[in-house]
Amino acid sequence: MIVGRPFLTVDQIQKKVRELADSISADYENKNLLAVGILKGAFVFYSDLVRMIRVPLTVDFILASSYVKSNTSGEVKLMHDITEDTTDKDVLLVEDIVDTGITLNYIRERILMKGPRSLHICAFLDKTERREVEVPLDYVGFAIPNEFVVGYGLDYDNKFRNLPYISIFKKRT
Ligand code: IMP
Ligand code: MG
Repeated sequence: MIVGRPFLTVDQIQKKVRELADSISADYENKNLLAVGILKGAFVFYSDLVRMIRVPLTVDFILASSYVKSNTSGEVKLMHDITEDTTDKDVLLVEDIVDTGITLNYIRERILMKGPRSLHICAFLDKTERREVEVPLDYVGFAIPNEFVVGYGLDYDNKFRNLPYISIFKKRT
């Protein structure tokens, strides 16, 4: 196996998801929450998060990617757009990791053009060092160093997404 010890364990992850869900539940009481998961990477975090949120919500997904292997291409490809009407919705974008910020910035601007009642962002991991485009993050799980991580939905070449923990990826040379 080329992935090593957990960088974030199952317990650390679950505890953090619970904290994020508690904050979101408090902030979205009496709102009309539409939780939009950014596929593919956020699918595991998203499904844990929504199950811990205690206010009513609707679900939707957007499939976009800007990544080729472990290098960002800087270009965002949209493969599937949201299907829900956003006009009376308090949209919460749910992302696995923010790196350069290019993907999230693109998605945020695209959704803002649809005129939601509000738009906020929840990202599980934040690689602050690598930021090229500033994106306002309202809920962040962990700020992490500039390492390539896999597991808990995060991939290398679309693999390792099913690891239940997060590990730093080292290529065997
Ligand atoms: P950004 O557009 O550079 O912010 O890239 C964000 C996207 O790149 C995320 O949604 C991930 O899919 C992917 N990504 C960035 N860093 C990592 C990483 O360390 N492991 C796996 N995927 C990553
Ligand atoms: Mg992603």
